Amino acid sequence: ASPDVVVVGSFNVDHVWRSDALPPPGATHSGEYASGPGGKGFNQATACARSGAATAFVCALGDDLGGHHARSLATADGIDLRDQPAPVPTGSAGIFVDAQGRNSIVVGPGANAVLSADFVEGHAAAIAGATATLVQLESPLEAIAAALRLARESGRIAMLNPAPANVAVPRELLALADILTPNETECAALFARHLGERIDGEAIASLDSPRLHALCRDLLPGGTVVVTLGAAGCFVSHADGSLRGDDTAWYRLPAEPATAVDTTGAGDAFNGALAAALALRPGAPFATHLREAHRYAALSTERPGAAASMPTREQLAVRFPA
Ligand code: RIB
Ligand code: NA
Repeated sequence: ASPDVVVVGSFNVDHVWRSDALPPPGATHSGEYASGPGGKGFNQATACARSGAATAFVCALGDDLGGHHARSLATADGIDLRDQPAPVPTGSAGIFVDAQGRNSIVVGPGANAVLSADFVEGHAAAIAGATATLVQLESPLEAIAAALRLARESGRIAMLNPAPANVAVPRELLALADILTPNETECAALFARHLGERIDGEAIASLDSPRLHALCRDLLPGGTVVVTLGAAGCFVSHADGSLRGDDTAWYRLPAEPATAVDTTGAGDAFNGALAAALALRPGAPFATHLREAHRYAALSTERPGAAASMPTREQLAVRFPA
């Protein structure tokens, strides 16, 4: 059977240090260490699977402890893992988290940099059969483009989470997405690069809505842009007649209140849950999917870790009774 969602992206072993404050250059802090599974791709695949969607995850792994760990975790969560063997170490990330749950991250791509368009194309049948395909920017752009193109050609939903912000995304790649989900920093980077509009990441949330909508329309004329704004919720800009169920071109939705202990992977939680909702409840209005994704992301921030913090459907129902 086809998966409901195919996630194409990264797996990282996350090494996490928690201390009161993020260390500035030259400083040494003492704190607590933990390691766990991460990578935007794997976090999103885990969120998607734990949301109840049959999920396939296409990635590249090294022949090492990290790679073996990824395989056993995927099995435990019922994720259909399709890994390209890489002759280099599995991806890794060094993450510092402060007392407010904020983080700073350095990623060593390792095996993730090896994922090829050919390998992704080998999974064309899964992509063609899935309701949605979800990609991020921690993999080679050709591999990401191949996944989006296959989804598009099959008339399926192509979702691009343009994270992290420091990756320069070509216009042609953006144009392959039906749904684009930048956070405010990524949104500011895309506006600067593609529209020549220099707006501070922090100013995105308070931008006048018609203006933000106009910029989103310029950025992705044919698709939906969901700008995630952390605790301020999200801004949604639809192209006319795009995703069914909505006749309003733009709107804002509030976030769900949460007491964050670790926001690492909150964006991944949102994206994975959104893809799952699109696949599991195809007739529901888009705003309903977004509310679900907000709840899912909120709960993920109340739990430590990245992939490990993704709640199950049951845990979500307990935290947010319908
Ligand atoms: O989005 C969070 C993720 O970014 C972490 O799990 C880390 O691996 C980096 O890829
Ligand atoms: Na978390």
